[in-house]
Amino acid sequence: MRQQKQAFHWEKHGEWQGQTGDERRAALLERLRKRPGEFTSGEELAQELGLSRTAVWKQVEALRRKGYVIEAKARAGYRLLQAPDRLYPEELAPHLGGLRLGRVVFYRERVDSTMELARVLAEEGAPEGTLVVAEAQERGRGRLGRPWASPLGLGLWFSLVLRPTLVPAQAAKVTLLAAVAGARAVEMVTRLAPGIKWPNDLYLQGRKVAGILTELKGQADAVDYLILGVGINVNQQEKDFPLSLRHLATSLYLAGGERVDRVRLLATYLREFEHRYDAWQGGSQEDWLREWHERNITLGRPVRVNFLAEHFRGVALALDSDGGLIVATGDGERRVFHAGDVTLL
Ligand code: BTN
Repeated sequence: MRQQKQAFHWEKHGEWQGQTGDERRAALLERLRKRPGEFTSGEELAQELGLSRTAVWKQVEALRRKGYVIEAKARAGYRLLQAPDRLYPEELAPHLGGLRLGRVVFYRERVDSTMELARVLAEEGAPEGTLVVAEAQERGRGRLGRPWASPLGLGLWFSLVLRPTLVPAQAAKVTLLAAVAGARAVEMVTRLAPGIKWPNDLYLQGRKVAGILTELKGQADAVDYLILGVGINVNQQEKDFPLSLRHLATSLYLAGGERVDRVRLLATYLREFEHRYDAWQGGSQEDWLREWHERNITLGRPVRVNFLAEHFRGVALALDSDGGLIVATGDGERRVFHAGDVTLL
């Protein structure tokens, strides 16, 4: 009974799933995409979608307002000429067939931080896999309380609500897994191969291209929910980064020389993440942990670790069983870090 109520709640409030306007527009887009470059008559669209011709026209107008370029020609009908570079749920949906993650999507043009909205939704009972995605964040958050620059339409800024069956100590591993999925997704879409700096920063050509933040609510023995926040610098040019970041950060565009389809990258990320996350929840972590090791750029290197107000120098040796970083420090000791900031020396 309780479950039924929840499903109803999320059908109503999931802004993608529940709204008929969105569904109609998505169905109309799907029809137009079936015949690339060709016209489909208003009559045919109306019949297939079970709408009046006026309703079809209204939906075409709504799509145009969202940035779709649709040509209308008397006696020929409509054809789609161009889709906007936006992460609209109706753009994402055709790429997500069969996935659990991303079935409920909250899309915003601007948001304070997707972490915050995802947290509010998680508190309201949002199901696992609820995706919050924004074109821009006004107050994007990075690790260790740093800001995260999130300019409009140039990156992927999103958070996922997860409800893993884990004890909180193990949850840090989600961030390692999330980094592996990120590196793999970038590789599949761009052929660039980012390295992973412990725990979960993605690097290309010595500069940071993506970061991951996890926030968790739970008790000692169980996780209530975990919010996984992913930020990937995608199509920024040099000028789009704040001056203070230009020598530290890069984008996929700057590293690879080509603009990247953000919708495709997001869908690929969700697929790569889900696949590994399900394996892990099913009890198997060897494969993605091996991938983390293959892609890592930290182990075996001299590092400086900043943890709270302290700094440690040493050599990064290995991961412990919770994903912590084991460092041989100069004083002959071994320390394990479960948080902190690593600089490669
Ligand atoms: C880091 O410091 O490396 C982590 C950066 C995480 C940024 C992402 S962007 C989407 C989500 N919303 C936020 O405010 N932060 C995360």
